[in-house]
This record gives sequence, C-alpha cells and structure tokens, in this order.
Amino acid sequence: MRTSTDPSAATAERYRQFAAVEATGLSACYEEWARGVAGDPAAVALIDHLPPAKRQPNLVFTSARFLGAPVSPYPAFADWLGEHWHEVEGVALTHATQTNEAGRCAVLLPALAALAGQVRAGGAPLALIEVGASAGLCLHPDRYSYRYATPTGERMLHPVGGPSPVVLDCMVTGPAPIPERMPAVIWRAGIDLNPLSVTRQADVDWLDALIWPEHDDRRARLRAAVAVARRHPAEIVQGDLNEQVGALVGRARAETPAGTMIVVFHTAVLLYLDPEAQARFAAHMRRLPVRWLSNEAQGVVPGVLEKLVRVPAVSSDFVLALDGDPIAFTQPHGRSIRWF
Ligand SMILES: C[S@@+](CC[C@H](N)C(=O)[O-])C[C@H]1O[C@@H](n2cnc3c(N)ncnc32)[C@H](O)[C@@H]1O
Repeated sequence: MRTSTDPSAATAERYRQFAAVEATGLSACYEEWARGVAGDPAAVALIDHLPPAKRQPNLVFTSARFLGAPVSPYPAFADWLGEHWHEVEGVALTHATQTNEAGRCAVLLPALAALAGQVRAGGAPLALIEVGASAGLCLHPDRYSYRYATPTGERMLHPVGGPSPVVLDCMVTGPAPIPERMPAVIWRAGIDLNPLSVTRQADVDWLDALIWPEHDDRRARLRAAVAVARRHPAEIVQGDLNEQVGALVGRARAETPAGTMIVVFHTAVLLYLDPEAQARFAAHMRRLPVRWLSNEAQGVVPGVLEKLVRVPAVSSDFVLALDGDPIAFTQPHGRSIRWF
C-alpha cells in the first residue's frame, strides 16, 4: 500500500510521501500543500481529528477544494484550512476518493475490440460489467471518439453514430493494431461500494474536485463524458464486487442473446482491496463464464506481476491484463499504452 493511503503511517509522513511520490510532476499545488502540511504541526493536529483511513492527502485536499479552497501558496491554504476545518472534516467523513476517469477507455477499447473480433468476423456483441465503476464513465467506451497517436501516424475511431463530443487522446507503441471499428456493446452495468450518479450535481461536483488542480484537460473531459453518460445512464449496483459479481454475470447472461461475450473489467480498483479479497476476486474471474480485463497498478492483481517479463518505463504505469496475462503497460489516466 502507498504510504499516503496507509492508515498506520504517521500523518506528516503520509503527506511528505504524497508530495515526493504522487504529486511531484503532476500537481505543483498539491506538492506544495502536502509538503506544507508535513512541516506544519497545527495542520497535522487538525487532520489527526479524522480517523486514520480518512487522513489521506488526496481526500483532505479534495474535500477542501470541493468547499471552495482556492489554489494558492501553502500559507494561504493553511489559513483557509484552519478557518474551514469543521466543514472539511464533514466532507471527508462522508466522501471517498473515487476518481472516475473516462480517459481510461482509450486503453481498454483496443482490447475490447480484439475480444469481440475473436468470436466473430465483424465482432461479437459485448456485455460489459465494470467492477468499481464509480459513476460509470468507463462503461461507455463505444460512445467516445479516440485519437490514437501511433508510430505510423494518427488514427481516429468514432462511435457508430458519428464523432463524439468526448475525444480521448492516447499515444500507442508496440505491435497491437488499433481497431478498425467500434465493438457493439449491447448490455452494460457496474458495481460499486458507493455508486455516484452522473445525474446528481453534488456527485459530479465531487468528481470535479477529485481532479487535481492543474489538470484542466481532464476537467473538460469529465464534463463532456458526464453529458454523454447522462443521455444513457448505466445501472450501477451498490455493493461489494466480490459479493455482487456472480449475480450480475448471471443477469448479463439471462438478458443478452446467445453468442454475446461477457467482459468483466476494472481499472484502478483492486488497490482498495486487501490481498485476501483480491485473491477471491481473481478466483471468481477464473470460475465465471467471462473474459476478464484488468487495468491496475502493478502488483495488485494476483498472478499478473509474476508473469511480467518486462519492466515499465515509468514505475507508476498500470498493467493491462487479459484473463490474468499481462498484455500492455498503460499510463494511469489512459494517456498512453505500450503493447508487449
Ligand atoms: C479510483 S475509483 C476508479 C473508478 C473507475 N474504475 C475509473 O477507473 O475511473 C475506485 C472505485 O472502486 C470502488 N471500490 C473500491 N472497493 C470496492 C469494492 N470492494 N467493491 C466495489 N467497489 C469498490 C470505489 O468506491 C471507487 O468508486
């Protein structure tokens, strides 16, 4: 577990690590705030009012920005936090870090299209089940447009009905082809411990606050993806993925024609499970009549790390795996994919 999310680590250390490892190079604001908190006993004392699991920097900073904390140098943020601590505490206690990044569809889509093509020339219809779906923005891979930058030039891929207002950019290296056409998704649903709703403004505002301050491209993408998802709300079952996945697979089988391929997928989710629950989930995936596509940090999907024969260029890269076999490294927000 990363130190910043490890509830047993001291708060100052969690913030120092967050600044040095997670925020560096990605958010100058969060890097400064986290370094500031780590060296500020008064801020640490406030944050220590929260239960250990809620003291994580990403949750505290998101709660503050959700309430309107301006992007500012640390001394101004420290003053703001002191004045608004009671409200920040209330938001942190009732919310969770559940960033929903539609951009991750860019690394899922080629694998989904290849799966559909394995069954039938022209593609078998797919039923998609996303575990840990948050607000379900990754359940609409067929409704976004894609701009793949490949070594031989740019390749666009659009939904069947024409270009989408959401265009996902992704840099591709390695041998796997870019799909010629969108896979047909005829059924989709998700599971989440705490589903967010694209039709509830407070949930969308929380998703917005979860995007780090400087990432304006991701904020614009969130708004556009929410607008797409609002037109086609996908069902997200509330509950634990291990408890719910069998029943949802059963429903997908019952509600789709024979020949439909059921794909269970997840991105940035298994990190939240303890090793026993991770192993239980992997066992479900081997037992159920589904294909299993995972896009997760290295080491969190049982068996995948052991099968890796390469090292990623960037240590934070995710591993895309099909049925437990690694097939690519991916940038955690879907900005690039490096096929094996
Ligand atoms: C970081 S978010 C990722 C959301 C989405 N997969 C994406 O990539 O944009 C992780 C999600 O997993 C959910 N989650 C964590 N543990 C879970 C569990 N045991 N069962 C179901 N959902 C879970 C969280 O509630 C959260 O919405």
